[in-house]
Amino acid sequence: MGFFNGVPVSIKGTGMYVPEKVLTNQDLTAMVDTSDEWIRDRTGIRRRHIAAEGELTSSIAEKASREALRNSGISPEDLDMVIVATNSPDTLFPGVAPKLQGMLEAKKAGAFDVQSGCTSGVYSMAIAAGGIASGVWKNVLVVGAEVLSRIIDWTDRNTCVLFGDGAGAMVLGPAADGEGHFISANMRSDGTKHDQITLLGGLVEYPASGETLEKKLHYVAMKGNDVFKFVNRVIPPFLKEYCLESGFQPEDISWWFFHQANQRIIDKTAERLGIDPEKVVINIDEYGNTSAASVFLALSEFMREGKLQKGEKLLFTAFGAGMTYGGIIYEA
Ligand code: ACO
Repeated sequence: MGFFNGVPVSIKGTGMYVPEKVLTNQDLTAMVDTSDEWIRDRTGIRRRHIAAEGELTSSIAEKASREALRNSGISPEDLDMVIVATNSPDTLFPGVAPKLQGMLEAKKAGAFDVQSGCTSGVYSMAIAAGGIASGVWKNVLVVGAEVLSRIIDWTDRNTCVLFGDGAGAMVLGPAADGEGHFISANMRSDGTKHDQITLLGGLVEYPASGETLEKKLHYVAMKGNDVFKFVNRVIPPFLKEYCLESGFQPEDISWWFFHQANQRIIDKTAERLGIDPEKVVINIDEYGNTSAASVFLALSEFMREGKLQKGEKLLFTAFGAGMTYGGIIYEA
């Protein structure tokens, strides 16, 4: 955990895009042995958006980015870095970020992907804010984008009901007078639990073969109940400690942007921290778990609704494959 020193960094603009096609819980009952009631009760999810044929992580990232750039008033030529948080890149290389940088004609920018499970979004914000605070970069585009529907086994009810596609973006830059700033970040990992959420096939450990295809190693696999227990054990005390170290009580945070993985996890965490449920931003019912895109989508929707007031404190937090987890606090 540490504080951002140096140049104060503010969120200049946000944007989002979700594919038009909607897949309801009812639709899923025709694909696997499940029910609308089970999915709603166990996860809080009602619908998720699914990319159309030909729609790629880079193409949905571009749409979210153009809105964020428009809202920020910063042009692509003024970007120094493009960072894309994703676990479902179009290809392993090139990364999504260089493709996006080319699409946007951000000619002076570098570009790289961050891939660290669902925490990638929070990690990326911290990397971008740290780079700007230090003076190395000025304007940075940070995007969370996922087309998880292409790496999901649609015959596996343990995973296919949970995930959705979508992209959210933010432009960060040096704060002008009266603008908000990032306060602190805390990034953690427990790599001893690396087997809890995996996509094993097609790379170094399990090179693509008939066997990896047959064993479906090219799809997301998850020990859902182990993840559930890990998160419920680790995340509430982590967040409590992080708030206190940052100089706040949990009730001082105006808005909580939890990774939208499971409504029950969010509710339990909020309850254990004594957070007013009204302060928790929720959109899992509409989008499901969009992994690295989730906190960006929640913020962008929140901004579209014009809810943010000057001086409010926002806490973004996520957990995911690794098992990685982390948080970042912003004052508007
Ligand atoms: N429909 C109906 N029944 C189902 C379904 C389904 N879609 N999926 C599982 N079940 C069954 C199981 O087979 C099991 O049946 P059994 O008792 O006969 O064996 C029963 O429901 C209970 O299964 P559990 O796995 O114990 O259910 P649980 O309450 O843990 O809920 C869930 C499962 C929703 C996956 C939960 O564990 C969870 O959300 N875990 C966290 C996942 C997560 O947050 N992942 C985020 C990281 S993603 C990333 O980083 C890419």
